[in-house]
Amino acid sequence: MIILGIETSCDETAASLIEADDKNIIVLSNIVSSQIALHSKWGGVVPNLAAREHLKNILPVIETALEKAEKNSADIDLIAVTNGPGLIPALLIGTTTAKALAYFWKKPLIGIHHIEGHIYANFIRDEISAISNSQFLIPKQNPNPKFPILCLVVSGGHTQLILMREHLDYEIIGETLDDAVGEAFDKVARILGLGYPGGPAVAKIADEFSSATIADEFKITLPRPMIKSANFDFSFSGIKTAVLYAVKKNQENLKNKNYISAMCQEFQTAVIDVLIHKAINAAKKYQPKTILLAGGVSANQKLREQLGLAIEKNVPNTNYKIPDIKYSLDNSAMIAVAGYFRWKKNKNKKELEKNWQSLEADASLKL
Ligand code: KG4
Ligand code: ZN
Repeated sequence: MIILGIETSCDETAASLIEADDKNIIVLSNIVSSQIALHSKWGGVVPNLAAREHLKNILPVIETALEKAEKNSADIDLIAVTNGPGLIPALLIGTTTAKALAYFWKKPLIGIHHIEGHIYANFIRDEISAISNSQFLIPKQNPNPKFPILCLVVSGGHTQLILMREHLDYEIIGETLDDAVGEAFDKVARILGLGYPGGPAVAKIADEFSSATIADEFKITLPRPMIKSANFDFSFSGIKTAVLYAVKKNQENLKNKNYISAMCQEFQTAVIDVLIHKAINAAKKYQPKTILLAGGVSANQKLREQLGLAIEKNVPNTNYKIPDIKYSLDNSAMIAVAGYFRWKKNKNKKELEKNWQSLEADASLKL
């Protein structure tokens, strides 16, 4: 079947067509219009500006997705749209557009939780993702993740360990008590004057200067909050505050490129240490067949590699699954894929034809 996926929960306007059946899940088009340039002036996403930009771009983005896939509206069997969580003005553009199209084109419509989308980015089964993942040092990639699956979700708004015993079944076994990991990256980038979005900027500097001598020169040691706690919860605001205090002690350091490098390196290492420690402990307790990485921070190369190595060392019988880089950050192919699995499980498909009326955007939608 052919599915149109639509995503507007934050600062990317995205539309995608996928073709899915029991064997293959192939992305036919994946169009993402980013608003980074618009929001970087403000140091973060401004909800009303985001909505205005989504409104301007949503129809051209959908049209391009159809053209790239060489399909037209008659070919579409299902529309899947992110209906939460996220910024409500932004979500409303995607859901309203999806509802209007579902009504005029007479298509069934499914609302998808944004994090469910990130998780299902790992279920795309096309050759391209298999090839581009293989260039990295990642052991045990399995194109068909096996259940039970332990998901490490790391995005700008979420940090969670989720146990999936089967498709669409989620048990949150731990989560952040304050900042999400992507949020911490963004805040640290702001403190260090590295702009928005901060994650890629911090990661780039940390990876460029990964020589121990630079870190030693400044003797920066950041905390690893809750690393020793017996539960699977996280806390990242303390690491960010430690960066802030260190910088405040000597503002001159902000002019020193080596200091910034050392700080980025130690921050990234501290965050990854905590994430991996908790994920491995959870794997030892719950014994999943697969550990899966999801969310925008899964684009972090060090995290992808280090988690893979930690799995091989500590729980060697567990498979490891990461999304292709182009499906790590916000996109709509992942929403369409989640839509496919929800469609398959749905026993009352007629109901979905009425969703153009009843679907609602919910800024704090629960998984
Ligand atoms: O999933 P996502 O695209 O949007 C949300 O659902 O929040 O994640 C965005 C987050 C941002 O905080 C961004 O700074 C972070 O992911 N991020 C990264 C990297 N690329 C994006 N963090 C660390 N390293 C990266 N390479
Ligand atoms: Zn996201």
